[in-house]
Amino acid sequence: MDFFRLLLLAASMHEDIEKVLIAEEVIEKRLDVIAERVHADFASEEALQVVAILKGALVFMADLLRRVPLRLEIECLNVASYHGGTESSGQVDFLDQKLPDVKGRCVLLIDDILDTGRTLEAVSAKLLQMGAREVKTCVLLTKDKVRAAEVEADYSAFEIADEFVVGYGLDYDGKYRNLPYVGVLNPAVIKS
Ligand code: XMP
Repeated sequence: MDFFRLLLLAASMHEDIEKVLIAEEVIEKRLDVIAERVHADFASEEALQVVAILKGALVFMADLLRRVPLRLEIECLNVASYHGGTESSGQVDFLDQKLPDVKGRCVLLIDDILDTGRTLEAVSAKLLQMGAREVKTCVLLTKDKVRAAEVEADYSAFEIADEFVVGYGLDYDGKYRNLPYVGVLNPAVIKS
């Protein structure tokens, strides 16, 4: 690596990352597999309704769905449970004025990570309560831990240890969503 590239890296968000957990190329290969499964499982749906949870699912959703050649309809849902830190607040807040109309639809619910399980549980319940026929869940990451809510994702790209991660849509304090990989932050970056 030349000197100027090293200088650029040092001046970028990459220097805040202690270790890369899942590299960009590994994510891309795995998305091919998940997309093929989604395609096969929903091939008979006339128009599959996708609901993605903002903002964490943005990058994963965009990369995954461009690999699925079905007639998808995409809606986003603004939900918060972290409020800026590295621990779930334990409460799931729906931040939208208006929720998508999912009556009678089969919904593919996409999120970045399954952690305590509260978000997927609360959003799935809400979609079913709003009349969705069926809700299938899809996440980039599943944390290996005992969950507060008893949910498992129907599609999960990677299982990771119970540690706080950023990148590929996941943030710390609103930043690092645009990292092309999933990584662990240098502890010095995390505000005490
Ligand atoms: P729950 O606990 O409801 O978590 O399953 C889902 C939401 O919490 C956020 N989350 C994280 N965000 N790094 C993040 O940047 C993490 O390690 C992490 N764990 C949970 C995320 O927004 C997810 O949608």
